[in-house]
Amino acid sequence: MNADPIAAFYRWIEYAAFGKALERRRFAFLSRTACARRVLILGEGDGRFLARLAAINDTARVDVVEASAAMIELARGRLPQPAARRVRFHHQDALRAPLPGDSYDLIVTHFFLDCFAADDAARMIATLAAALQPGGGWVVSEFQEPSGRLARLHARLWLFLMYTFFRLATGLAARELPPYAALLSRAGLVLEDQRQARWGLMVSQIWRKPAAANVP
Ligand SMILES: C[S@@+](CC[C@H](N)C(=O)[O-])C[C@H]1O[C@@H](n2cnc3c(N)ncnc32)[C@H](O)[C@@H]1O
Repeated sequence: MNADPIAAFYRWIEYAAFGKALERRRFAFLSRTACARRVLILGEGDGRFLARLAAINDTARVDVVEASAAMIELARGRLPQPAARRVRFHHQDALRAPLPGDSYDLIVTHFFLDCFAADDAARMIATLAAALQPGGGWVVSEFQEPSGRLARLHARLWLFLMYTFFRLATGLAARELPPYAALLSRAGLVLEDQRQARWGLMVSQIWRKPAAANVP
């Protein structure tokens, strides 16, 4: 996927399609990120979440892994100077390059896991889960196919439109959602809380890696 061609319009395409609904998903668990110290954000996009995180958390050191140079440029532009010193941008493919660090207490993926086929998502989630400290959190915003006939039909229509758009505009290879919830669960994470919107088409979730058992 090459998001460079759409980076400048990405926000406006999103607002045209969904209004502020995706924005609300990204920020649903923002308050729970206020105490994080080492944060890894994958596929940040144009920096709207990063700017909000920087505004409520003035100590975290943040690694951003993003494959699009144009998105990184936009994200940099949204960061106030003092916060910029705590953020490192890594212009790299999260599937191929090693992670910039090996111990985070917060991982953030907003509308990122949906960019991958199931086997790639499985590999990436396993790698990321290993880099999450025991007790650490993983904030996810995603699309999903809810249960219920009409809600599922509604979601499938939107997913078809979105995958078609991103295939044409960015060369996205994935064709359908990976089973990210099952993969997170298989990686040992526990779903702590979730909020759904738009007939279940969108969901914000916070997953947690269980704290290591206390050894007497
Ligand atoms: C659908 S956009 C989501 C952007 C933003 N997180 C949001 O909430 O809207 C996916 C983002 O992930 C980035 N991306 C896709 N595949 C990637 C990869 N393999 N490695 C790093 N970034 C990737 C894209 O460049 C894009 O900015």
